[in-house]
Amino acid sequence: MGNYLVTGSASGMGAQVVARLREAGHRVIGVDRVDADVVADLSIPAGRQLAIDEVLSRCDERLDGAVLAAGLGPKRGAERTIVEVNVLGVTELLSGLRPALAAANKAKVVVIGSNSTTSTPFVPGRAVRLLKRGDTAGAARIITRRGPLAPPVAYAASKLAVSHWCRERAVTAQWAGAGIRLNLLAPGPVLTPLLRAQLASPTGKQVRSFPVPAREYGTVEQIADWTMMLLSPSADFMVGSVVTVDGGTEALVRPNGWPARLPLRSLPHLLWAMKKAPSRGQVADYSALPD
Ligand code: NAI
Repeated sequence: MGNYLVTGSASGMGAQVVARLREAGHRVIGVDRVDADVVADLSIPAGRQLAIDEVLSRCDERLDGAVLAAGLGPKRGAERTIVEVNVLGVTELLSGLRPALAAANKAKVVVIGSNSTTSTPFVPGRAVRLLKRGDTAGAARIITRRGPLAPPVAYAASKLAVSHWCRERAVTAQWAGAGIRLNLLAPGPVLTPLLRAQLASPTGKQVRSFPVPAREYGTVEQIADWTMMLLSPSADFMVGSVVTVDGGTEALVRPNGWPARLPLRSLPHLLWAMKKAPSRGQVADYSALPD
């Protein structure tokens, strides 16, 4: 039996993962703004700190795994709140809980990203960079300049920032070196209250017109299956991976975009990492990887 944190535990994917973990006999600490073991509003700093403090005290400072599923979908006028929850609701919690994850044996973290990261146009790179640094106000200002596109752009920017933040940290001594396996799932449209609300909104027609080659929406059961896999020893050799489960949208819109050749601008990263040359059995410290 292990200790697991699940954010967004009250609904959709998070609720399904909670059910699966409890069925498997684990102790789960659910965090949500309603109807949860720890009721906390992840859109504000005090709510995020409350969540960290409560989880640490309830898990005796040892977490075998964490699933970060709390999130908000695109909504007009809510751009700042979307980025607060989707970015800082993950990055601040993971930073605060990292010591508890390191205290377990090969803890697993699954962050729910989105395939919007790779299939949404007009996402300003500067907003993503600001979000990664935690500047949600600055990023929201840039994003709102996108006018009617601001809600989907805010959503995609938030998921891109959180994905990059996780991948940068996943490889470091503090994470991989401490035995923590930090990976992401990138779902496409999955029938949850979040997607149903979008389908029923004024932009529902656009949501429906988004191409899904599988010609059906995903289910919370499928996402829970993939999450359980990423929480299992099968993920011991997975670090910083993004597993796309999206019915084919990503492959449809960018068939040759991924896998991609290593761009020349990444060469300094590779050479820098090679110089670290860890001796056998040790993990090099990749923490200071240049941006
Ligand atoms: P959902 O709406 O069913 O569940 C999200 C949960 O997050 C809710 O229980 C909600 O109360 C919680 N939450 C929202 N704001 C919060 C706050 N300020 N503080 C604490 N909790 C808060 O949504 P769903 O679909 O299960 O989403 C799970 C994750 O999957 C989200 O991160 C979402 O962005 C992502 N996602 C969803 C897709 C979909 O089509 N449903 C597609 C791709 C990614």
